Amino acid sequence: MAAMAGAVRTAAVRGEQPGEIVPAPVHVAIIMDGNGRWAAARGLPRVAGHRAGAQAVRRAIEAAIRHDVQWLTLYAFSSENWRRPAGEVRDLTGLLRHYLRHEVAELAAQGVRLRFIGELTRFDADIQAELLRAERETAANTRLNLVIALSYGARAEIIDTARRIAAVVQAGRLDPATIDEAVFAAAMATAGIPDPDLILRTSGEQRLSNFLLWQAAYAELMFLDVLWPEFGESHFAAALAEFARRERRFGARPG
Ligand code: IPE
Ligand code: IPE
Ligand code: MG
Repeated sequence: MAAMAGAVRTAAVRGEQPGEIVPAPVHVAIIMDGNGRWAAARGLPRVAGHRAGAQAVRRAIEAAIRHDVQWLTLYAFSSENWRRPAGEVRDLTGLLRHYLRHEVAELAAQGVRLRFIGELTRFDADIQAELLRAERETAANTRLNLVIALSYGARAEIIDTARRIAAVVQAGRLDPATIDEAVFAAAMATAGIPDPDLILRTSGEQRLSNFLLWQAAYAELMFLDVLWPEFGESHFAAALAEFARRERRFGARPG
């Protein structure tokens, strides 16, 4: 019912017939790219772009809530981003620490449930403690499920899953012949999270950069010519409208 109400509201936002049902995505995932270019275009240091990017995160969360999207996944830091210069990694982890300490209470008040995926143990102990606290303190919320991918890499996630399944097989508790997509998905860090229906990437780059490779199998992809710090409600609404125009076939023949 909630999904249907969301679809009706999306149609209203698009200015179409009131009450018209349009397909609304249950899960939107965003590759938030272009902070560095945004800063460079203004003669600012890259960290200013990352700070402005944090404001865009707020707008994206508010837009998801307004459009009744149930799941929002944000790619905030990739496994490969550790390869950036130490100063930039410090700036990014510093911003993450600040965000966790100062924004979680507001997110909790908005009814947001937070979850984190990625190699979280690579962060400093105090950040790991904040991540656990944020998950714990928002665990009962249901308005929006917000998943933040941190030190996340899809290949590492798939390998980690294979390793965990192999250990269960080795212990004699699983017959390899019974491993299917459902068994594999249930062993992943994203178990219980619906696959993304729509993946957006800002900055104009047209690649996934190791994001949700397993889960993206049938996601609609959209590459927006906007730098992440400029992202706002209008981009989110336009992406939902474009999503509603797409025909998803999942390999079957169109009806
Ligand atoms: C996205 O912006 C933020 C992260 C990847 C952490 P970038 O920092 O990648 O910005 P560009 O791509 O260099 O413009
Ligand atoms: C992808 O952006 C990762 C995040 C947005 C967190 P990158 O800027 O790291 O990706 P590449 O290096 O351009 O592929
Ligand atoms: Mg980038």
